[in-house]
Amino acid sequence: MAKLISGVKISSDIKNEIKEEVKELIRVKGIRPGLGVILVGEDPASRVYVANKEKGCAEVGFLSETARMPADATEEQVLKQINLYQKREDIHGLLVQLPLPSHINKDKILHAISPDKDVDGFHPVNIGKLVAQQEGFVPATPAGVIEMMKREEIKIKGKNATMVGHSEIVGKPCALLLLNEWATVTVCHIETRDLKYHTRNADILVVAVGKPKLISGDMVKEGAVVIDIGINRITADKADEKLLEWRKDDFDKKGATLVGDVDFQEVEPRASAITPVPGGVGPMTIAMLLKNTLQSAKRFADIR
Ligand code: GUN
Repeated sequence: MAKLISGVKISSDIKNEIKEEVKELIRVKGIRPGLGVILVGEDPASRVYVANKEKGCAEVGFLSETARMPADATEEQVLKQINLYQKREDIHGLLVQLPLPSHINKDKILHAISPDKDVDGFHPVNIGKLVAQQEGFVPATPAGVIEMMKREEIKIKGKNATMVGHSEIVGKPCALLLLNEWATVTVCHIETRDLKYHTRNADILVVAVGKPKLISGDMVKEGAVVIDIGINRITADKADEKLLEWRKDDFDKKGATLVGDVDFQEVEPRASAITPVPGGVGPMTIAMLLKNTLQSAKRFADIR
Protein backbone atom coordinates (compact mmCIF):
# COMPACT_ATOMS: atom_id res chain seq x y z
CA MET A 1 0.00 0.00 0.00
CA ALA A 2 1.30 3.40 -0.97
CA LYS A 3 1.41 6.33 1.39
CA LEU A 4 -1.32 8.76 0.37
CA ILE A 5 0.07 12.29 0.10
CA SER A 6 -2.71 14.64 1.16
CA GLY A 7 -2.66 18.02 -0.54
CA VAL A 8 -5.66 18.93 1.59
CA LYS A 9 -3.65 18.52 4.79
CA ILE A 10 -0.42 20.08 3.49
CA SER A 11 -2.17 23.08 1.89
CA SER A 12 -4.10 23.65 5.11
CA ASP A 13 -0.83 23.67 7.08
CA ILE A 14 0.66 26.18 4.61
CA LYS A 15 -2.42 28.42 4.80
CA ASN A 16 -2.24 28.40 8.60
CA GLU A 17 1.43 29.43 8.42
CA ILE A 18 0.57 32.23 5.98
CA LYS A 19 -2.27 33.42 8.21
CA GLU A 20 0.14 33.81 11.13
CA GLU A 21 2.65 35.68 8.96
CA VAL A 22 -0.08 38.01 7.72
CA LYS A 23 -1.07 38.91 11.28
CA GLU A 24 2.58 39.69 12.01
CA LEU A 25 3.03 41.72 8.80
CA ILE A 26 -0.01 43.81 9.66
CA ARG A 27 1.11 44.25 13.27
CA VAL A 28 4.72 45.20 12.53
CA LYS A 29 4.50 46.95 9.16
CA GLY A 30 0.81 47.75 8.73
CA ILE A 31 0.76 45.85 5.44
CA ARG A 32 -2.00 43.45 4.39
CA PRO A 33 -1.02 41.38 1.31
CA GLY A 34 -3.31 42.02 -1.67
CA LEU A 35 -4.04 39.96 -4.79
CA GLY A 36 -5.63 41.40 -7.93
CA VAL A 37 -7.23 38.96 -10.37
CA ILE A 38 -8.48 39.64 -13.89
CA LEU A 39 -11.08 37.27 -15.31
CA VAL A 40 -12.13 37.74 -18.92
CA GLY A 41 -15.25 35.93 -20.15
CA GLU A 42 -17.43 33.22 -18.70
CA ASP A 43 -15.34 30.02 -18.88
CA PRO A 44 -16.96 27.84 -16.16
CA ALA A 45 -13.70 26.23 -14.99
CA SER A 46 -11.97 29.64 -14.78
CA ARG A 47 -14.86 31.00 -12.74
CA VAL A 48 -14.44 28.15 -10.25
CA TYR A 49 -10.66 28.66 -10.08
CA VAL A 50 -11.07 32.40 -9.49
CA ALA A 51 -13.72 31.84 -6.81
CA ASN A 52 -11.29 29.45 -5.07
CA LYS A 53 -8.53 32.06 -5.23
CA GLU A 54 -10.84 34.64 -3.63
CA LYS A 55 -11.80 32.13 -0.93
CA GLY A 56 -8.13 31.31 -0.28
CA CYS A 57 -7.32 35.02 0.12
CA ALA A 58 -10.16 35.46 2.60
CA GLU A 59 -9.00 32.44 4.61
CA VAL A 60 -5.51 33.85 5.19
CA GLY A 61 -6.55 37.49 5.66
CA PHE A 62 -5.44 38.92 2.29
CA LEU A 63 -7.17 41.71 0.45
CA SER A 64 -8.47 40.35 -2.85
CA GLU A 65 -10.10 42.03 -5.79
CA THR A 66 -11.35 40.53 -9.02
CA ALA A 67 -11.97 42.53 -12.18
CA ARG A 68 -14.58 40.57 -14.13
CA MET A 69 -14.51 41.61 -17.77
CA PRO A 70 -16.86 40.54 -20.57
CA ALA A 71 -15.73 37.95 -23.16
CA ASP A 72 -15.57 40.69 -25.82
CA ALA A 73 -13.31 42.97 -23.76
CA THR A 74 -10.48 44.35 -25.90
CA GLU A 75 -6.77 43.78 -25.37
CA GLU A 76 -6.46 47.49 -24.51
CA GLN A 77 -9.10 47.19 -21.80
CA VAL A 78 -7.30 44.25 -20.22
CA LEU A 79 -3.96 46.09 -20.41
CA LYS A 80 -5.58 49.10 -18.77
CA GLN A 81 -6.84 46.94 -15.89
CA ILE A 82 -3.35 45.43 -15.47
CA ASN A 83 -1.95 48.95 -15.19
CA LEU A 84 -4.56 49.93 -12.62
CA TYR A 85 -3.56 47.01 -10.40
CA GLN A 86 0.10 47.58 -11.11
CA LYS A 87 0.05 51.14 -9.79
CA ARG A 88 -1.71 50.25 -6.56
CA GLU A 89 0.34 49.93 -3.41
CA ASP A 90 -2.21 47.65 -1.73
CA ILE A 91 -2.02 45.06 -4.56
CA HIS A 92 1.20 43.05 -4.25
CA GLY A 93 0.38 40.31 -6.72
CA LEU A 94 -1.73 40.26 -9.84
CA LEU A 95 -2.71 37.61 -12.34
CA VAL A 96 -4.80 37.22 -15.44
CA GLN A 97 -6.75 33.97 -15.39
CA LEU A 98 -6.06 31.76 -18.42
CA PRO A 99 -7.26 30.81 -20.97
CA LEU A 100 -8.03 34.18 -22.55
CA PRO A 101 -10.49 34.62 -25.44
CA SER A 102 -8.79 33.99 -28.81
CA HIS A 103 -8.89 37.66 -29.93
CA ILE A 104 -6.54 38.58 -27.07
CA ASN A 105 -2.80 37.97 -27.44
CA LYS A 106 -1.89 36.01 -24.32
CA ASP A 107 1.84 36.75 -24.55
CA LYS A 108 1.25 40.48 -24.85
CA ILE A 109 -0.90 40.36 -21.71
CA LEU A 110 1.51 38.23 -19.68
CA HIS A 111 4.47 40.40 -20.70
CA ALA A 112 2.62 43.53 -19.50
CA ILE A 113 2.54 42.26 -15.91
CA SER A 114 5.43 43.63 -13.92
CA PRO A 115 7.75 40.71 -12.98
CA ASP A 116 7.78 41.83 -9.34
CA LYS A 117 3.99 41.48 -9.07
CA ASP A 118 3.77 38.41 -11.34
CA VAL A 119 2.73 35.92 -8.65
CA ASP A 120 1.81 33.32 -11.31
CA GLY A 121 5.47 33.31 -12.41
CA PHE A 122 4.53 33.31 -16.10
CA HIS A 123 6.53 36.39 -17.17
CA PRO A 124 9.69 35.51 -19.18
CA VAL A 125 11.81 37.29 -16.56
CA ASN A 126 10.53 34.93 -13.86
CA ILE A 127 10.91 31.90 -16.13
CA GLY A 128 14.50 33.04 -16.79
CA LYS A 129 15.13 33.38 -13.06
CA LEU A 130 13.89 29.83 -12.55
CA VAL A 131 16.36 28.60 -15.18
CA ALA A 132 19.18 30.67 -13.63
CA GLN A 133 18.18 29.63 -10.08
CA GLN A 134 17.69 33.22 -8.99
CA GLU A 135 14.99 34.38 -6.61
CA GLY A 136 11.75 35.09 -8.46
CA PHE A 137 8.19 33.84 -8.62
CA VAL A 138 7.79 30.14 -9.40
CA PRO A 139 4.50 28.95 -10.99
CA ALA A 140 2.22 27.71 -8.23
CA THR A 141 1.39 24.15 -9.33
CA PRO A 142 5.01 23.02 -9.93
CA ALA A 143 6.09 24.79 -6.73
CA GLY A 144 3.34 22.86 -4.94
CA VAL A 145 4.67 19.54 -6.25
CA ILE A 146 8.14 20.19 -4.82
CA GLU A 147 6.72 21.57 -1.55
CA MET A 148 4.61 18.41 -1.08
CA MET A 149 7.61 16.15 -1.59
CA LYS A 150 9.77 18.20 0.80
CA ARG A 151 7.13 18.17 3.53
CA GLU A 152 6.73 14.40 3.08
CA GLU A 153 10.55 14.10 3.34
CA ILE A 154 10.82 12.46 -0.06
CA LYS A 155 14.41 12.63 -1.26
CA ILE A 156 14.76 14.13 -4.75
CA LYS A 157 18.55 14.47 -5.07
CA GLY A 158 20.09 11.80 -7.28
CA LYS A 159 16.74 10.23 -8.15
CA ASN A 160 15.49 9.50 -11.66
CA ALA A 161 12.50 11.81 -12.19
CA THR A 162 10.27 11.55 -15.23
CA MET A 163 7.99 14.47 -16.07
CA VAL A 164 5.17 13.48 -18.43
CA GLY A 165 3.84 16.67 -20.04
CA HIS A 166 5.78 19.71 -21.24
CA SER A 167 3.36 22.64 -20.87
CA GLU A 168 4.72 26.13 -20.25
CA ILE A 169 2.92 26.52 -16.93
CA VAL A 170 3.28 23.04 -15.42
CA GLY A 171 5.53 20.47 -17.16
CA LYS A 172 8.50 22.65 -18.11
CA PRO A 173 8.78 24.55 -14.81
CA CYS A 174 8.25 21.32 -12.85
CA ALA A 175 11.09 19.63 -14.77
CA LEU A 176 13.34 22.63 -14.01
CA LEU A 177 12.49 22.56 -10.31
CA LEU A 178 13.28 18.83 -10.14
CA LEU A 179 16.56 19.51 -11.92
CA ASN A 180 17.33 22.35 -9.47
CA GLU A 181 16.84 19.77 -6.69
CA TRP A 182 19.45 17.56 -8.40
CA ALA A 183 17.18 14.89 -9.86
CA THR A 184 18.12 13.31 -13.18
CA VAL A 185 15.19 14.52 -15.23
CA THR A 186 13.51 13.11 -18.32
CA VAL A 187 10.73 15.10 -19.97
CA CYS A 188 8.16 13.18 -22.04
CA HIS A 189 5.64 14.65 -24.46
CA ILE A 190 3.36 13.81 -27.35
CA GLU A 191 6.29 12.84 -29.62
CA THR A 192 7.98 10.57 -27.04
CA ARG A 193 8.47 7.17 -28.72
CA ASP A 194 8.34 4.74 -25.81
CA LEU A 195 6.57 6.42 -22.89
CA LYS A 196 6.52 3.23 -20.80
CA TYR A 197 10.31 2.88 -20.99
CA HIS A 198 10.73 6.34 -19.46
CA THR A 199 7.96 6.04 -16.85
CA ARG A 200 9.26 2.64 -15.68
CA ASN A 201 12.68 4.16 -15.15
CA ALA A 202 11.28 6.82 -12.79
CA ASP A 203 11.84 6.83 -9.03
CA ILE A 204 9.68 9.96 -9.10
CA LEU A 205 6.94 10.08 -11.74
CA VAL A 206 5.11 13.36 -12.27
CA VAL A 207 2.23 13.47 -14.74
CA ALA A 208 0.48 16.56 -16.15
CA VAL A 209 -1.22 15.77 -19.44
CA GLY A 210 -5.00 15.84 -18.97
CA LYS A 211 -5.72 12.29 -20.15
CA PRO A 212 -7.49 9.88 -17.79
CA LYS A 213 -5.75 6.50 -17.26
CA LEU A 214 -2.70 7.57 -19.30
CA ILE A 215 -0.51 5.84 -16.71
CA SER A 216 -1.39 2.20 -16.06
CA GLY A 217 0.07 -0.06 -13.37
CA ASP A 218 2.60 -1.74 -15.70
CA MET A 219 4.09 1.67 -16.57
CA VAL A 220 5.24 2.32 -13.00
CA LYS A 221 8.35 1.05 -11.23
CA GLU A 222 7.76 -0.82 -7.98
CA GLY A 223 8.21 1.63 -5.08
CA ALA A 224 8.02 4.81 -7.18
CA VAL A 225 6.66 8.13 -5.90
CA VAL A 226 3.76 9.13 -8.18
CA ILE A 227 2.53 12.72 -8.41
CA ASP A 228 -0.63 13.15 -10.47
CA ILE A 229 -1.34 16.72 -11.61
CA GLY A 230 -4.12 15.80 -14.06
CA ILE A 231 -7.66 16.93 -13.32
CA ASN A 232 -10.26 15.29 -15.58
CA ARG A 233 -14.00 15.61 -15.03
CA ILE A 234 -15.76 12.35 -15.88
CA THR A 235 -19.52 12.25 -16.32
CA ALA A 236 -21.37 8.96 -15.72
CA ASP A 237 -21.87 8.37 -19.49
CA LYS A 238 -18.09 8.45 -20.03
CA ALA A 239 -17.18 6.29 -17.04
CA ASP A 240 -16.47 2.55 -17.13
CA GLU A 241 -18.05 0.15 -14.66
CA LYS A 242 -14.97 -0.03 -12.45
CA LEU A 243 -14.83 3.72 -12.04
CA LEU A 244 -18.59 3.97 -11.45
CA GLU A 245 -18.26 1.42 -8.67
CA TRP A 246 -15.12 2.97 -7.12
CA ARG A 247 -16.52 6.52 -7.15
CA LYS A 248 -20.17 5.53 -6.65
CA ASP A 249 -20.83 8.03 -3.84
CA ASP A 250 -19.37 10.93 -5.81
CA PHE A 251 -21.32 10.04 -8.98
CA ASP A 252 -24.53 9.69 -6.99
CA LYS A 253 -23.98 13.06 -5.34
CA LYS A 254 -22.73 15.15 -8.28
CA GLY A 255 -23.43 13.16 -11.46
CA ALA A 256 -19.71 13.38 -12.25
CA THR A 257 -16.36 12.74 -10.63
CA LEU A 258 -12.76 13.93 -10.93
CA VAL A 259 -9.89 11.66 -11.87
CA GLY A 260 -6.23 12.30 -12.60
CA ASP A 261 -4.01 11.04 -15.44
CA VAL A 262 -2.90 8.04 -13.38
CA ASP A 263 -5.02 4.88 -13.10
CA PHE A 264 -5.08 5.14 -9.32
CA GLN A 265 -6.50 1.66 -8.65
CA GLU A 266 -3.76 -0.02 -10.70
CA VAL A 267 -0.86 2.22 -9.73
CA GLU A 268 -1.44 2.72 -6.01
CA PRO A 269 -0.47 -0.85 -5.00
CA ARG A 270 2.89 -0.50 -6.83
CA ALA A 271 3.84 2.98 -5.60
CA SER A 272 5.54 3.86 -2.31
CA ALA A 273 3.67 7.19 -2.21
CA ILE A 274 0.99 8.71 -4.43
CA THR A 275 -1.15 11.85 -4.65
CA PRO A 276 -4.90 11.27 -5.02
CA VAL A 277 -7.22 13.20 -7.35
CA PRO A 278 -9.04 15.09 -6.00
CA GLY A 279 -7.25 16.20 -2.84
CA GLY A 280 -3.67 15.88 -4.07
CA VAL A 281 -1.82 18.55 -6.04
CA GLY A 282 -5.01 20.58 -6.71
CA PRO A 283 -5.30 22.34 -3.33
CA MET A 284 -1.55 23.02 -3.34
CA THR A 285 -1.87 25.42 -6.27
CA ILE A 286 -3.87 27.99 -4.31
CA ALA A 287 -1.67 27.61 -1.23
CA MET A 288 1.46 28.32 -3.31
CA LEU A 289 -0.17 31.28 -5.08
CA LEU A 290 -0.93 32.74 -1.63
CA LYS A 291 2.66 32.05 -0.59
CA ASN A 292 3.93 33.94 -3.66
CA THR A 293 1.64 36.87 -2.86
CA LEU A 294 2.86 36.96 0.74
CA GLN A 295 6.46 36.85 -0.52
CA SER A 296 5.69 39.83 -2.77
CA ALA A 297 4.11 41.82 0.07
CA LYS A 298 7.14 41.08 2.26
CA ARG A 299 9.44 42.27 -0.49
CA PHE A 300 7.47 45.49 -0.76
CA ALA A 301 7.78 45.82 3.02
CA ASP A 302 11.48 45.10 2.66
CA ILE A 303 11.40 41.91 4.72
CA ARG A 304 12.80 38.72 3.19
N1 GUN B 1 -5.37 28.64 -15.79
C1 GUN B 1 -5.08 27.38 -15.39
N2 GUN B 1 -4.13 27.41 -14.43
C2 GUN B 1 -3.82 28.70 -14.22
C3 GUN B 1 -2.92 29.36 -13.34
O1 GUN B 1 -2.18 28.77 -12.56
N3 GUN B 1 -2.91 30.71 -13.43
C4 GUN B 1 -3.69 31.41 -14.30
N4 GUN B 1 -3.59 32.72 -14.33
N5 GUN B 1 -4.52 30.82 -15.12
C5 GUN B 1 -4.59 29.47 -15.08
